[in-house]
Amino acid sequence: MALGIDSETLATLQELQREFGDMVRITKPNGRLAYFINDAFEVRRILTRRHSKYHKGPGFERVKMLLGNGLIVSDGDVWRRSRRMIQPAFSRQNVHRLMKVMVECCDRRAMHWAELAANGEHCNITSETSDFALELILISTFSGDYETRIMTAGDNPFAFLSRDSTRDLSVVMKVRQLRELLLSIIADRRAGKGSQEFDFLSMYLQATDKEGRSFSDSELLDELMTLIVAGFETSANTLNWVWYLVAKHPEVEARLIADARQFVPNVSALDSESLGAMQYTQQVLEETLRLYPPVWLFTRRSHELDELDNFDVAPDTDIYLSPFILHRTDHYWPNPEQFEPDRFAPTDKPKKDRPFFPFSLGPRRCLGEYFSFLEMKVHLGLLLPRFRMQLIDDSQPELELGINLRSSKDIFMKPMER
Ligand code: HEM
Repeated sequence: MALGIDSETLATLQELQREFGDMVRITKPNGRLAYFINDAFEVRRILTRRHSKYHKGPGFERVKMLLGNGLIVSDGDVWRRSRRMIQPAFSRQNVHRLMKVMVECCDRRAMHWAELAANGEHCNITSETSDFALELILISTFSGDYETRIMTAGDNPFAFLSRDSTRDLSVVMKVRQLRELLLSIIADRRAGKGSQEFDFLSMYLQATDKEGRSFSDSELLDELMTLIVAGFETSANTLNWVWYLVAKHPEVEARLIADARQFVPNVSALDSESLGAMQYTQQVLEETLRLYPPVWLFTRRSHELDELDNFDVAPDTDIYLSPFILHRTDHYWPNPEQFEPDRFAPTDKPKKDRPFFPFSLGPRRCLGEYFSFLEMKVHLGLLLPRFRMQLIDDSQPELELGINLRSSKDIFMKPMER
């Protein structure tokens, strides 16, 4: 059966799982063997203990144009070196230093929404969450250079990334211009010019490998593009779904507001501890990520033999693993289509029984997981108690399957001050 990544893929995968069970062997049109695996134990094993037997799989060549050989697409020694160099930038301590940027980006949204509310106007929550997350990752990466070097022409030159079609020629041009802009920012920073504030770029510039070498300009460029692409659409999509789900579930909304009012009664009470205490908000975010994992399909290609319990994966075999499918499989998650944040209430039940891997697992697990939970908690903690969002169209949004899972149409809402 053909298995490219397009809008039919989700239906195809669901059908394969229903008909053939947890381990599906597929011969692709080019003759290559592939497995689609829905056994929670094997998925965990491939992503964790056996991860070194696999490289990134089909689909990643499409993002190489944008990300070069950055962390998400690289493999083997190149990946290992970059990961070691970059990981310290994502320590909790460093992420906490960026919390004030999260607050600042919420303030900008609040100002805009207050204006819309006063005029009785609608907002496009899909672009609002996208703008929020893009602005946040850019200021976290470039601090003062965001205003002085990136936003100089008024339009955000990264904005096209949220509606990308990587084969489009105009996108190729935009990427080229963007790379030139980033190279000039890097050159200025190396020359001691530009922003002197704490940001991801300053940390990446200081990073060294075991031999004491720093990133070259082109390595740095790939890693910056990776950071921005990885860091904004995923959180933006999750927040888009959260606003939709909250509007559909008033009981959840009430509990979220109570959580925010208890732990973040005002912005000066907001710190890593108060955000950590927002347990119900954490549950809502996890349940949203269960239903709508932004990275809905992982692909891998084996480069050496892997012996699984029931069969061997020969070298050069493609593997498909889907959090979307496993998160909605009813023997792991009863009533899987229902939005029930209490599934994630603290419990003694071993987590291994329930496959949940929106951030992947093992050594290639997302580096931005903690950053994204904080950003989403700050966003909800500050904006939800202030604004009620009413859905304009009540119907269930269709899904669009790109590299990320999105709502196929933008979601519109009417903001009202509480
Ligand atoms: C809801 C938010 C997010 C989700 C669901 C998410 C999900 C993921 C997933 C599934 C991967 C692994 C992909 C694969 O192995 O094929 C990944 C990798 C990565 N993510 Fe995230 N991500 C999120 C937010 C972020 C943020 C905010 C940042 C940066 C600030 C970030 C940075 C990265 C990086 C650098 C990698 C590559 C790690 C590596 O290969 O070593 N992510 N993310």
